[in-house]
Amino acid sequence: MRTFFLALCIYLILVFCFAKGNPTSRRYQDGVIIDNKLYVFAGRQTSNPLILNQTADMNELWILNLNQSFDVSSPPWLRGPSTNAPRVAYHTVNVGGAENELLVIYGGETLDSMETSYAVFDTKSQNWSTPLFNTSQINRRQKHTGVTNFNDSTIIFYGGASFSNPPVGNNLFVVNTSSNPWSIYNLPAGPESRAFHTSTLLSDGKMYVIGGVTDLANNKLATLDLILVFDLRTSQWSQAPVNGTVVPPGRFLHKAVGTGDDKIIIYGGTTDFDYFTGTFNDLYVLDTTTNPYTWTNITTKGIIPIARSCHTMVMAGTNLIITFGRHADELKDGFPNNTLVLDTTTYTWQTTYTPNKLELTTPPKPNISNKTNTSTTTPLPTLAPSSEQNGVGVDSGNENGNTKIIIGVVISISSVILIGVGLFFFKRRRQDKNNETNNELDHVLTIEETTVGR
Ligand SMILES: *[C@@H]1O[C@H](CO)[C@@H](O)[C@H](O)[C@H]1NC(C)=O
Ligand SMILES: *[C@@H]1O[C@H](CO)[C@@H](O)[C@H](O)[C@H]1NC(C)=O
Ligand SMILES: *[C@@H]1O[C@H](CO)[C@@H](O)[C@H](O)[C@H]1NC(C)=O
Ligand SMILES: *[C@@H]1O[C@H](CO)[C@@H](O)[C@H](O)[C@H]1NC(C)=O
Ligand SMILES: *[C@@H]1O[C@H](CO)[C@@H](O)[C@H](O)[C@H]1NC(C)=O
Ligand SMILES: *[C@@H]1O[C@H](CO)[C@@H](O)[C@H](O)[C@H]1NC(C)=O
Ligand SMILES: *[C@@H]1O[C@H](CO)[C@@H](O)[C@H](O)[C@H]1NC(C)=O
Ligand SMILES: *[C@@H]1O[C@H](CO)[C@@H](O)[C@H](O)[C@H]1NC(C)=O
Ligand SMILES: *[C@@H]1O[C@H](CO)[C@@H](O)[C@H](O)[C@H]1NC(C)=O
Ligand SMILES: *[C@@H]1O[C@H](CO)[C@@H](O)[C@H](O)[C@H]1NC(C)=O
Ligand SMILES: *[C@@H]1O[C@H](CO)[C@@H](O)[C@H](O)[C@H]1NC(C)=O
Ligand SMILES: *[C@@H]1O[C@H](CO)[C@@H](O)[C@H](O)[C@H]1NC(C)=O
Repeated sequence: MRTFFLALCIYLILVFCFAKGNPTSRRYQDGVIIDNKLYVFAGRQTSNPLILNQTADMNELWILNLNQSFDVSSPPWLRGPSTNAPRVAYHTVNVGGAENELLVIYGGETLDSMETSYAVFDTKSQNWSTPLFNTSQINRRQKHTGVTNFNDSTIIFYGGASFSNPPVGNNLFVVNTSSNPWSIYNLPAGPESRAFHTSTLLSDGKMYVIGGVTDLANNKLATLDLILVFDLRTSQWSQAPVNGTVVPPGRFLHKAVGTGDDKIIIYGGTTDFDYFTGTFNDLYVLDTTTNPYTWTNITTKGIIPIARSCHTMVMAGTNLIITFGRHADELKDGFPNNTLVLDTTTYTWQTTYTPNKLELTTPPKPNISNKTNTSTTTPLPTLAPSSEQNGVGVDSGNENGNTKIIIGVVISISSVILIGVGLFFFKRRRQDKNNETNNELDHVLTIEETTVGR
């Protein structure tokens, strides 16, 4: 009987607790949205004093379902698999694959094999792998940008620095992630070299390159009165001037996103290469439909956050989501371990995230040809949204709905009882350290701790 309860406890702990947790603070990570879930990958662990090299790089994958409401002070992060994932920082994460199902990791600083310039996480099969491509066609890089063209599953990479830093690049190339092996080809080089910049693709088929560093050896920043524009339809670069009435100060390690109504929002970043004292807390919107382009300076409302750089920023419908990154004065302000949500319909910082008009920023459904009709595997329980884990997801709307709820309630109630029983045994084990019969439970709890922790 006891073994039975123990087995059930182990099962329930694995089903209910595995992979849930609070990610520690980090910087130089990157993230994207696939199927309304935010995936944030890798980055450099923060610590006091700071570790400034790759020894602190992580390969953690954290997942946040954006199709559910949550308390912004405790987002329901889930930990994804990391087996075979590289430890990197200053890399890019993009959506790829014929079905927009892949996280494509490219470049970055790493202590792992320097040859591993690409890694791929398949959100369907939930495993990591190394894609096939002609490795002599690309160089390693970091501090570059990538944008996904969802129409043809290609990723367009621009700029960045070589692995050993100073030389900053202006080369532009395309990786076709739906071919096997991937095909890689060059596009015309940009008019100016950039690293630590942002690139944003809007529905007009143009990629907008904003800010960053033009010369790392001399810490030279790009100005924001000129936007580099690459038109994917004509393969032409241009340098578009901006109305001089409002020009945000030059910056790097800021972030930019395209909105559902085809504007570009930039937030944060810094001017200071050493101590980050020049970190920004400002938000501007770029309108590319006016001639010249126009920046609008937005005064945000609500609880104003602390200035941030090195963050991950995505647009989920009308909500701007900002997570991880760096504060200027971390001795005073601590490391940014909180997520920020800005409702861009009112420009008010939120304490509760409520999904709104997610379809506005959902990429077009890929045109799946019949030959790539791969069987979809059932998601692992580790990544199931919590509502489904509890079995009370009322999304089914079919005859299974009630059964699901009943099973869910039964499981929920029994889990409370069983976890109680588990805790009882756990306590007893602690009271009696020599009792070896409970070692199994101890082992499971240890696994849970290490999985959930850093
Ligand atoms: C990385 O930084 C840590 C802490 O500052 C230091 O102990 C270590 O030697 C450094 N490693 C390398 C490879 O530079
Ligand atoms: C990942 O999963 C897919 C589909 O299940 C499988 O074909 C592939 O071999 C797996 N790759 C690795 C590296 O496990
Ligand atoms: C790989 O790329 C290099 C450089 O572009 C080229 O010379 C070589 O022919 C390519 N190899 C294959 C097998 O396509
Ligand atoms: C990408 O590769 C696929 C498969 O080889 C091919 O059908 C498609 O035309 C390629 N797309 C681009 C934009 O190169
Ligand atoms: C993708 O297709 C849509 C619809 O045809 C079009 O509006 C958009 O400009 C295309 N994007 C690119 C990058 O070509
Ligand atoms: C720039 O913006 C200002 C304020 O909105 C406007 O008055 C001015 O006409 C604009 N200049 C140009 C060249 O469009
Ligand atoms: C934008 O507004 C903020 C706060 O009002 C101000 O500090 C900043 O200087 C403004 N930026 C520009 C470019 O005028
Ligand atoms: C987040 O940072 C704040 C300020 O440094 C600190 O008080 C708080 O304990 C941290 N929270 C977590 C979950 O690490
Ligand atoms: C989807 O792809 C097929 C074959 O490649 C093409 O004939 C069809 O027009 C595409 N559909 C859309 C909506 O783009
Ligand atoms: C896929 O197959 C179905 C049924 O055989 C067919 O109706 C459809 O046109 C095919 N789609 C494409 C994109 O080839
Ligand atoms: C595509 O996959 C789905 C789900 O596995 C399956 O039901 C369907 O029959 C497949 N279509 C084709 C044309 O193979
Ligand atoms: C979000 O979840 C709800 C309920 O689970 C579902 O009906 C809806 O289709 C989802 N929305 C998107 C955009 O996936």
